[in-house]
Parts: sequence; C-alpha cells; structure tokens
Amino acid sequence: IRRHFSNTSVLNNVIENVTVIGGGLMGSGIAQVSAQSGHNVLLVDVSPEILKNSESAIAKSVARVAKKLHKDDENAANKLKEETLSRIKYVTDPLKSVESSDLVVEAIIENLELKQKLFKSLDEAAPKKTIFASNTSSLSIAEIASTSNRKDRFGGLHFFSPVPVMRLLEVVRIPETTEETFQSMMAWGKAIGKTCIACKDTPGFVVNRLLVPYVSEAVRMLERGDASAEDIDTAMKLGAGLPMGPLELADFTGLDIGVFVLEGWHKKYPDNPLFKPVELQKRMVKEGKLGRKSGEGFYKYTTK
Ligand code: NAI
Repeated sequence: IRRHFSNTSVLNNVIENVTVIGGGLMGSGIAQVSAQSGHNVLLVDVSPEILKNSESAIAKSVARVAKKLHKDDENAANKLKEETLSRIKYVTDPLKSVESSDLVVEAIIENLELKQKLFKSLDEAAPKKTIFASNTSSLSIAEIASTSNRKDRFGGLHFFSPVPVMRLLEVVRIPETTEETFQSMMAWGKAIGKTCIACKDTPGFVVNRLLVPYVSEAVRMLERGDASAEDIDTAMKLGAGLPMGPLELADFTGLDIGVFVLEGWHKKYPDNPLFKPVELQKRMVKEGKLGRKSGEGFYKYTTK
C-alpha cells in the first residue's frame, strides 16, 4: 500500500539529524557539507584529540567556502560560518550518537571487519528508522551490511575528496535496499548540494571502477618503458583534456591506497586482468614512495 504513497513516505523520511562516524579527511568533509546545508551533525571519532583536529580542519574549510560564496558580503559569510559550525557537535561515543539520528554515514578506516563490527553495534543502538550508509571506496556494501539487521535501510554514500569541492555523490544500493531508503539518500545528497548518481554494489562503483584500472594501466606503461611519467601525464592532459595526468593522480591519492584497492579486488576477482596488482607500484610502496604525502612518488615534492 505504501508504494502508492511513495512521495509521502519519502517526505516522512526527510533527513535532519546526521551522524558521521570517523572524523578524518572524508568524515570531516561530510560533516561540513551536511552542516552547511542545514543538517544537525554529530561527528564521532575515537578520541577528543582527533576531534580537535577535525574541528579546526572544518573551521578552516568552512571559512574558505563562506568567503568564496559571499565575496562582497562579510556579514553573510560570517553568518554561514557561524551557523555551520554551531550545527556540528563532536562526540566520542558512537552508540549514543545514533540515538536520534536519521542517517549514519560511516567514514572510518578502510577495513571490512572494523566496519562490520561498528555497524553491528550501531544496529542495536539506533532507532529502526535510521538509515545506515558507508563511504567505503573499495569494499562491498553488502558485506559491510551483513552484520546488521537493517539491510533494507542500508546503502552506500560514496563521496570524493575534497568533499566540499567535489560535486559528485555515488548513491549505492544493495539488493535489499528499499526504494524508500534509496530515495531518501538521493534526496539528502541533493540537499547537501551534490549531483547524485545511482550505483549498484559493484567493486569501485562507477568512478573508481574506471579510474583504478586506468591509473594501473598508466603505471604498467611506465613499467614497460613505453613512455616517461611526464609524457604519460602530458598526453592525458593535453590529448584527453583531463585536469591531471594518471601518475599525478596516483601520487595525489597515495600509491599505497592504489595497491591496497587492487590487491583486495584481485583477491576477490582473480580472473579479472584489470585488477592485477602492478609490480612497479608495489615496489614503490615498499620503498616508502607513497606519492605526495611521503614527498616522493612518480614525482618529487618539496611541500606535501
Ligand atoms: P582517515 O584515516 O583520514 O580517517 C579515518 C578516521 O576514522 C580516523 O580519524 C580514525 O581515528 C577514525 N576511526 C577509525 N576507527 C574508528 C571507529 N571505530 N570509530 C570512530 N572513528 C574511527 O581516512 P579517510 O581518507 O577519511 O577515509 C575514510 C573512509 O572513506 C574509508 O573507508 C575510505 O575508503 C573512504 N574514502 C576515502 C576517500 C579519500 O580520498 N581519502 C574518498 C572516498 C572514500
């Protein structure tokens, strides 16, 4: 019967209170964009010290956004800044944080067991209505959801870094995700100013499923000695019109992340040649050449 009233049920599922778990790079960004668009946010991490860093990163980032949006209106900029910051509370107790939450977005480290454990405990603490979502880049949403009893209210909300800048949001459904849950996630994504695309729970969803093999292929090309790093990047920037070359992108993302993702997918899908780990990339990671964050990857960096 509810089907016939899908608009009403979506309205009944308007998301106001958001819990973001993990106050690192992604979680801080997700908390920020949610608060900027008027949602009440609880940001959870394991210690008050980490949360202090999240808080100052968010304050800096909101100030940048406010200045850009209200170039000639200092009052409006200050208002946006203050209102946004006042909507975010920083807490260390994940179970308490979900008590009146409409949506939980998980952005803790990329580890399946930790995510499963977290969602199992949250499932017992959160009201029935609460939607659970993971921001995982490379893990399966169904596997993350497997420990909870609310697969109908489970999905993926995959953001891109830096969250306040990148406009895309991948909204992922598993077979059990109800249409109502999916529509609520899409509506929330739109409300926070993102362009949403619908994804199935396939490795890498859309963006990383295309991007990861592409970057690996560029590393293989370098490994074979077909072209230099600079020429590969120049080629893709000037010939394909991309803002960044694949090796620059690998340095930006972190070579260790690339290796971790490929190894995970390769283990699950050993027959897919696109997911085959790349020797050169593995060797560079062993040597500590992780890209921008370590000062060296395919290029050298003086500032990180
Ligand atoms: P990060 O390392 O910056 O932040 C992770 C945070 O989670 C840390 O502050 C850590 O203290 C906290 N944490 C760990 N276990 C926790 C727990 N049980 N409860 C509460 N907090 C906990 O990592 P980052 O880059 O923000 O990534 C987080 C997630 O987002 C990962 O699943 C990653 O795959 C995904 N992701 C990352 C992107 C990126 O560009 N870095 C892009 C899209 C998704």
